[in-house]
Amino acid sequence: MRVAVLVSGRGSNLQSLLDAAAASRLGPARLVLVVSDRVGAPALARASAAGVATRVVPFVEFAAREDFDRALVAALAEAGAELVVLAGFLRRLGADFVAAFRGRAVNVHPSLLPAFPGLGAQAQALAAGVRVSGATVHFVDEGLDSGPIVGQRAVTVFDHDSPATLAARILIEEHWLLPRVVCALAEGRVRVEAGRVRVDGGLG
Ligand code: GAR
Repeated sequence: MRVAVLVSGRGSNLQSLLDAAAASRLGPARLVLVVSDRVGAPALARASAAGVATRVVPFVEFAAREDFDRALVAALAEAGAELVVLAGFLRRLGADFVAAFRGRAVNVHPSLLPAFPGLGAQAQALAAGVRVSGATVHFVDEGLDSGPIVGQRAVTVFDHDSPATLAARILIEEHWLLPRVVCALAEGRVRVEAGRVRVDGGLG
């Protein structure tokens, strides 16, 4: 299965996928393209170092979000992407993308959705005073971090946490979860039934 990864910045989640691929832990998934919406995203260097093709579709150069979406879908189609992974992709995608990749695109998010969608999820969790937060991988739909949930991992929130310390603890779980979800998807073990996701054999 040909997999494309969308990134915006640091790319530690991308690295977890590159490492899993190098260790043959992604099943039949092949990372064929990494696309950034920003020029110079550090994630691009990680992809290049691993020998994965990169492209930049620079959001700021498009007049309208719809034009950006169309260019992104075209780049993904050109690469023959069958699955799209949003790994630290910090931009909301529109109807064109969702229509093209419904059921074939997943996103990793640093909270236990449906709590704390959108940016600053870790700070939102601290402000709400929750004692448990975590990581979610979900299918991408038209909403903001709202599609069917494929997998979640919880972490404890401590009294002394800052957004940065909580983010670091959640990130460990993101790196655990994302490659396992991609592997399960590539192996055809993931089904959506009435908005709920079943993973045959679990995530490990
Ligand atoms: C990750 O924590 C990811 O969950 C989050 O951005 C970070 C990117 O890190 N994504 C979102 O908040 C999307 N709503 P990375 O570039 O090192 O993978």
